[in-house]
Amino acid sequence: MKVLIVGGGGREHAIATSVAKSPKVDKIYCLPGNAGIAELAECAPISPMEFDKIVAFAKEKEVDLTIVGMDDPLVGGLVDELEKEGLRTFGPRKCAAILEGSKAFSKDLMKKYQIPTAAYENFDDPEKALAYLEIASMPIVLKADGLALGKGVLICNTLEEAKEGVKSIMMDKNFGSAGNRMVIEEFMTGREVSVLSFVDGKTIKTMTSAQDHKRAKDGDQGLNTGGMGTFSPSPFYTEEVDDFCKKYIYQATVDAMAAEGREFKGIIFFGLMLTPKGPRVLEYNARFGDPEAQVVLPRMKNDIIEVMEACIDGTLDQVDLQFEDNAAVCVVLASDGYPLAYEKGKEITGFDNFRDKDGYYCFHAGTKLHDGKVVTNGGRVLGITAKGATLQEARANAYMATEWIHFDNKYKRNDIGKAIDEA
Ligand code: AMP
Ligand code: GLY
Repeated sequence: MKVLIVGGGGREHAIATSVAKSPKVDKIYCLPGNAGIAELAECAPISPMEFDKIVAFAKEKEVDLTIVGMDDPLVGGLVDELEKEGLRTFGPRKCAAILEGSKAFSKDLMKKYQIPTAAYENFDDPEKALAYLEIASMPIVLKADGLALGKGVLICNTLEEAKEGVKSIMMDKNFGSAGNRMVIEEFMTGREVSVLSFVDGKTIKTMTSAQDHKRAKDGDQGLNTGGMGTFSPSPFYTEEVDDFCKKYIYQATVDAMAAEGREFKGIIFFGLMLTPKGPRVLEYNARFGDPEAQVVLPRMKNDIIEVMEACIDGTLDQVDLQFEDNAAVCVVLASDGYPLAYEKGKEITGFDNFRDKDGYYCFHAGTKLHDGKVVTNGGRVLGITAKGATLQEARANAYMATEWIHFDNKYKRNDIGKAIDEA
């Protein structure tokens, strides 16, 4: 079959790598893709928000399955546009992708269906938000309602900071229309875990757990980024935590969406915080995490196409989702300066070191081909993933492999997976 993947980051390279392993697949296309994906797929320069062009491309190439990996097109309704033309698509429709697209929606859903999360209030009037802050206890968390490249969350330690935050989100519109509404919520403490799951509208099957490192600098300092590295599984995601989440969070979310007439098919990403009072939902995403996908998918034993088709057909209950009994660590190689200003266009070398090495992956995030050379083309450039029998071994392997790659401005965190030693 012919498969089209929409997106062009490390997540899409990890998806493409899994898709390429499926015996069912003869041909992969990717829009727009990147230099790494181009080794597995035919890429074309169409942006994920050019819905008409994507639909026309899928029809022209007679694609059998389209996989939408990114939040913006999902929330914007690309799946609906493709389905309208009779094209088989993996991912939630617009009415379900709102689970990620509106934090106010997801908080109200959790409240209505008693899914454990931080206490909160929604606001669409900045004056009311400011008045609420006067009686709130600090620290407090402010969240722009809509998509904001993972940057629309402000943790404020003082009343002054919080007032500035409301101004920045709702009045100055620093996150654009994402800040037309906002959520103000209780500050929670604890370890964070990401759990991704396949969902077919009724049945949910969770994947192995992972943990992301969102801050730019070692010791969780610096600005928030899209993610600087991940490890899987999380040793903090115990059987007890899993039991709690199965009882109160996972199926409850799928059932709540169905009850609201927003049947969810695709990936639900549960961002969880393991608080002293038990697991709480920090956020939902309607897609694979990036770089979570880069440690979770390489460990998946199933044929990804079979699982995705079961989600579309509503037969996920018949799938036995299995993961390898090992570990994986991903270290992101970024351009120095990310997530602020950074230079692009630096030549990258060393890819040959990954050839024919089992258990080592060089996922491309921000790269492109220029005059026959692979050059940097984004803040997050590559995700270097390695497996190991244990988390410690996977981490040592991943850091070793980061040395195989060279480019000017190469930057990485040196403490990805340090928490493993505390488990
Ligand atoms: P989100 O985009 O909602 O996942 O938020 C980004 C990051 O902000 C999370 O990964 C947490 O580290 C932090 N965060 C979000 N909500 C809270 C909260 N209620 N309490 C403490 N930290 C939070
Ligand atoms: N790594 C977090 C995310 O994909 O949202």
